[in-house]
Amino acid sequence: MVFKIKDHYYKKAKKENFLARSVYKLEEIDNKYKIIRPGMRALDLGYYPGSWSQYIQQKIGKKGLLVGIDIQEVNGKIQQSNTKLFQKDIFSIEQLSDLNIDQAFDIVCSDMAPKTTGIKSVDQARSLEIVEKVFEVLPLFLKNNGDLVIKVFESQDAQDFFKEKRNLFKSIHFLRPKSTRTVSKEYFVIGKGFKA
Ligand SMILES: C[S@@+](CC[C@H](N)C(=O)[O-])C[C@H]1O[C@@H](n2cnc3c(N)ncnc32)[C@H](O)[C@@H]1O
Repeated sequence: MVFKIKDHYYKKAKKENFLARSVYKLEEIDNKYKIIRPGMRALDLGYYPGSWSQYIQQKIGKKGLLVGIDIQEVNGKIQQSNTKLFQKDIFSIEQLSDLNIDQAFDIVCSDMAPKTTGIKSVDQARSLEIVEKVFEVLPLFLKNNGDLVIKVFESQDAQDFFKEKRNLFKSIHFLRPKSTRTVSKEYFVIGKGFKA
């Protein structure tokens, strides 16, 4: 039997009609780094079920555009006029026209994670592999001077990777949001001002 721990953030998300408690991680990141603004074009990688997308939809408003991609079936509950959702592996996308768009994004968010095995070294390596692949495709998706938010599991290799990549952004920040479960080894990297 799978038990769902109904903690403070789980209950808060339910009450505020968000589809997952992870919304409060993005909210904290946004409150601190002011990354999501009205009218923006935002890409949410691994959006499903869609709490980050719900947050972004509200903040970018009707003039903005949110594109959400996930390998899971499209979640019709979060369809809105400012939103395009796709059921795709993000690494299968070769050009922006695959998403029926012609301009890159102001912000790319990735909450993608591997299916965890419980074996720490394997999970760390798989998480970093996703991050590395996102960095490979980033020039396709992210505009010059755009921002990135990406999740990664803690490891020395991840630290070394971001040290090597820090010059791709004007500034880079690391945050473990308060709502992160204590057992979780994840944190978020916020890159501001992409040098495309
Ligand atoms: C932690 S969940 C995202 C939760 C979401 N941010 C929210 O707030 O509701 C991670 C998602 O990443 C998706 N994912 C992982 N690898 C992917 C890939 N290569 N392409 C598209 N989606 C992927 C998974 O299917 C999963 O739905």
